[in-house]
Amino acid sequence: MKSLEILTDEDKQTLEVARISLDEQGKEGKKKLYIESYGCQMNFSDSEIVTSILQENGYATTSLAAEADVILLNTCAIRENAEQKVRHRLTQFTHLKKKKPQMVVGVLGCMAERLKTKFLEEEKIVDVVAGPDAYRDLPNLFNEVDEGQKAINVFLSRDETYADITPVRLHSNGVTAFVSIMRGCDNMCSFCVVPYTRGRERSRDVYSILKECQDLLNEGFREVTLLGQNVDSYKWESEDGSEKVNFAQLLERVALVSPELRVRFSTSHPKDITDEVLYTMKKYENICKYIHLPAQSGNSRILKLMNRTYDRDWYINRIDAIREILGEECAISQDLITGFCTETEEEHQDTLSLMEYVKYDYGYMFAYSERPGTPAAKKLEDDIPEDVKLRRLNEVIAVQRRLSLARNEMAIGQVHKVLVEGFSKRSEDFLCGRNDQNKMVIFPKENYKKGEYVQVLVTECTSGTLLGKAVN
Ligand code: SAH
Ligand code: SF4
Ligand code: F3S
Repeated sequence: MKSLEILTDEDKQTLEVARISLDEQGKEGKKKLYIESYGCQMNFSDSEIVTSILQENGYATTSLAAEADVILLNTCAIRENAEQKVRHRLTQFTHLKKKKPQMVVGVLGCMAERLKTKFLEEEKIVDVVAGPDAYRDLPNLFNEVDEGQKAINVFLSRDETYADITPVRLHSNGVTAFVSIMRGCDNMCSFCVVPYTRGRERSRDVYSILKECQDLLNEGFREVTLLGQNVDSYKWESEDGSEKVNFAQLLERVALVSPELRVRFSTSHPKDITDEVLYTMKKYENICKYIHLPAQSGNSRILKLMNRTYDRDWYINRIDAIREILGEECAISQDLITGFCTETEEEHQDTLSLMEYVKYDYGYMFAYSERPGTPAAKKLEDDIPEDVKLRRLNEVIAVQRRLSLARNEMAIGQVHKVLVEGFSKRSEDFLCGRNDQNKMVIFPKENYKKGEYVQVLVTECTSGTLLGKAVN
């Protein structure tokens, strides 16, 4: 899943817009909630659920931490540096809390789940710790704090999907939205903390997903991204067992909500992505031709140590199927880890050669960070020196940059359908939006508006962006 640890300028612009709308929600006499999110899209989506639960309980959102009665950090534990960021942020809030001792500071999400009571011991300013399945309990937890105690709920559930909760769209551009379709993860990739922080995999009721998509369309949204750690294993069954829905079928039903509503999804797992999903993508014009297919490594021995349950040949077979069914135009992105335990130079070269084979459009690349309690931490030695991990990371990034540029250059001279998300970050004379392949396209505004589909002739590109001109 795409990591949102780094805010781009584009994101910051949306944040600015969101700040204004957030403050408008602040009503007199209500307690004020300030919430910040780290980590993956799932966490950002969860913050929208948390906000909804708390609004129902009389809280109003604010964009200013200093004026908040409750500060919540929705945290990520995926890598060591993600956790450091949160600790650093908490120290910044210490000053606020000194000035306003009745202010409640809560830690939510994956780091809360991982550290549990340790958080309360280590970070004295934290009053509340709530794991990803405990958000309905937040009002009670705040009450406990009001009574002078620290409060914690880190129970993981087998069935909580928050299906009935309508998320409050935070930092929204009003055009694109995330829709959570499942929670947890049953894969046991040896490096990964997620199965421990988010619990068992469970799928959300198909009707609640369809309703949320329909409501979004009615509110003017034009794109939904279906979210899960492994969307291909989505599996829902009605209570009487008469109706069963897999991911390809869910995708089809969401696509049928309206041809005006674009559908994206993330994350696909190489072991589970089926030809049925690929044919469904081909069948519907509004299902975007873009697949995020994390490889993690291009070497079969390392993939086995990672417990990814596929090898290099299997991964290549899936790439070949994508190319065969959806063609060269389908964008593919990756997640890769460099310097996993015992990785040799040769095995690292296999990752580079896999990248050349696939010709990824872009990717998210990380140096291996050992996470306490994971199978890798228990059984394998984190033996690749930091400088080697980083050198390999830089090599992977350099290859990706070249591939991204080459893939983007293929678009020059073509006309792409772009869904306008807002002004470009540099100037209000330009609009920006994504094409089918999830690439940002910038073009002169003329009379086009946010939320419209515009045909754009691509004339130039960088490794990150396409530039062009509307030809409607
Ligand atoms: N469910 C998604 C991944 C979610 S985590 C999937 O299976 O693809 C997002 C990415 O973070 C992973 O794909 C992996 O590349 C990276 N990651 C996870 N644990 C890591 C670790 N311990 N060190 C470095 N990167 C890690
Ligand atoms: Fe982690 Fe693997 Fe699950 Fe992804 S599929 S969340 S990497 S355990
Ligand atoms: Fe997401 Fe980070 Fe948790 S990537 S699932 S918020 S550990």
